[in-house]
Amino acid sequence: MKERLPVAHTFSRILSRRGFLTAGGAGLAGVLLGAAGAEVYEVEDGPCTSAQPDSDPNGSPDLHGNWEAVRDQFELRRDRVHMAGFLLASHPRPVRDAIETHRRALDADPAGYLHENGARLEGEVRDAAAHYLEASPDDIALTDSTTMGLGLLYGGLKLREGQEILTTVHDHYATANSLRLRAERTGAAVRWIGLYEDLATVSKDEIVGNLIEAVRPQTRVVAVTWVHSSTGLKLPIREMADALAEVNRGRDEDDRALLCVDGVHGFGVEDASVADLGCDFFVAGCHKWLFGPRGTGLVWGKPEAWPVASPTIPTFDGPAPGEWIGAHSYGNWWNAAAEGPLPMATAMTPGGYHSFEHRWALNAAFALHQNIGKPLVADRIHELNRRLKEGMAELSHVILRTPIDEELSAGITCFDTEGLSFEGAVPWLAERGIVASQAPYHTSYTRLAPSLLTSPEEVDETLDALRHLNSAFVQ
Ligand SMILES: Cc1ncc(COP(=O)(O)O)c(C=O)c1O
Repeated sequence: MKERLPVAHTFSRILSRRGFLTAGGAGLAGVLLGAAGAEVYEVEDGPCTSAQPDSDPNGSPDLHGNWEAVRDQFELRRDRVHMAGFLLASHPRPVRDAIETHRRALDADPAGYLHENGARLEGEVRDAAAHYLEASPDDIALTDSTTMGLGLLYGGLKLREGQEILTTVHDHYATANSLRLRAERTGAAVRWIGLYEDLATVSKDEIVGNLIEAVRPQTRVVAVTWVHSSTGLKLPIREMADALAEVNRGRDEDDRALLCVDGVHGFGVEDASVADLGCDFFVAGCHKWLFGPRGTGLVWGKPEAWPVASPTIPTFDGPAPGEWIGAHSYGNWWNAAAEGPLPMATAMTPGGYHSFEHRWALNAAFALHQNIGKPLVADRIHELNRRLKEGMAELSHVILRTPIDEELSAGITCFDTEGLSFEGAVPWLAERGIVASQAPYHTSYTRLAPSLLTSPEEVDETLDALRHLNSAFVQ
């Protein structure tokens, strides 16, 4: 079949000048509500759209708090209780459709589709992310994962002689090893602290107090994780940011202690904007709670914080040749008369040809969450975890490790049992059709994560299984 190409766009043109709310809103509605007005891009086995997925012939369901309709968007096996979705997302239907649309178009004409649509599609993804985070698209770098974002951010921080990075013993491998690698490579000083004594008694005041006590005049970066995947503890990021703001009062801009957050297990769970959090950098993968395409992520930075970052991987985003002169852009890298650098969030978006069909389908995941409603998403995940925790608290052989307090917890519930080796718990639960996960940390608890894809009945089924864990394991 003959191709009808859409209006030309240049792949490397910056699209971030657009107002994100308007553009993002239009893009979002289009993704879920059908492809009205989208450009037609025909490929061999039928027409598909350049920006929007094939629309649902039966019309898109109203997902606003309609949990069965949300569950129906996924091809997750029905014979299992999925309590480990926080590791890696199953793609919901709008995401699958969008990936398929872009894949078919790329397979039909890789260079043509990329050159004609790439910049616009990437701009739409940035707009959707900005709309979701209530931020500016100009401050968002797109990555492939949390780990990539953390590695690029921490690896490239501009630190002056004597400045240090303060981090904690509670963070994930990705933060710990990004910092360790950074320290090995450049000699940067990294200091590890504990934020609390005991999960059973942990409080916001204790966490904030320990953090502030540890900050020194030379502390330039504070690297923490919003929701710990070791314990399910959620840090009070807002209170930490406010306390750091006090410390920073009177410091020069170049000496401010910047709060950098691995936000992946709060992202797609909590109803918070980046302004609500108050941090300086927010790093997350989009392929966990958010249900984005596998291999997607982002880094958001405050405009005044971005100058501390420096890119490692050259970006492909930026102006086209002859369009705008930028010192670090692909389009003009040969141009000795380069006049200035790219915006840092653009420069921090790694270049290289990659899995574009996944990157460009990411706005469908943001749209899905917005369609359900961020407050409802948060309420539902908290409600299910509360149910699980309250049920666990009644089981004398189960030690709930995650705080019951919802200000200090989110969607991950961790437990263990006195005197029990947990090597067997995850497979034992799996035999009963319950997918759990063992935390890959030195002190390792079993993790259950009720999500938008689990029902209250499935939480009860899990509790029923846990009731028998005692006789199965404890001698
Ligand atoms: C707290 C935390 N950060 C980062 C990661 C790694 O995420 P990604 O797969 O997006 O790199 C994980 C693992 O799932 C995690 O638990």
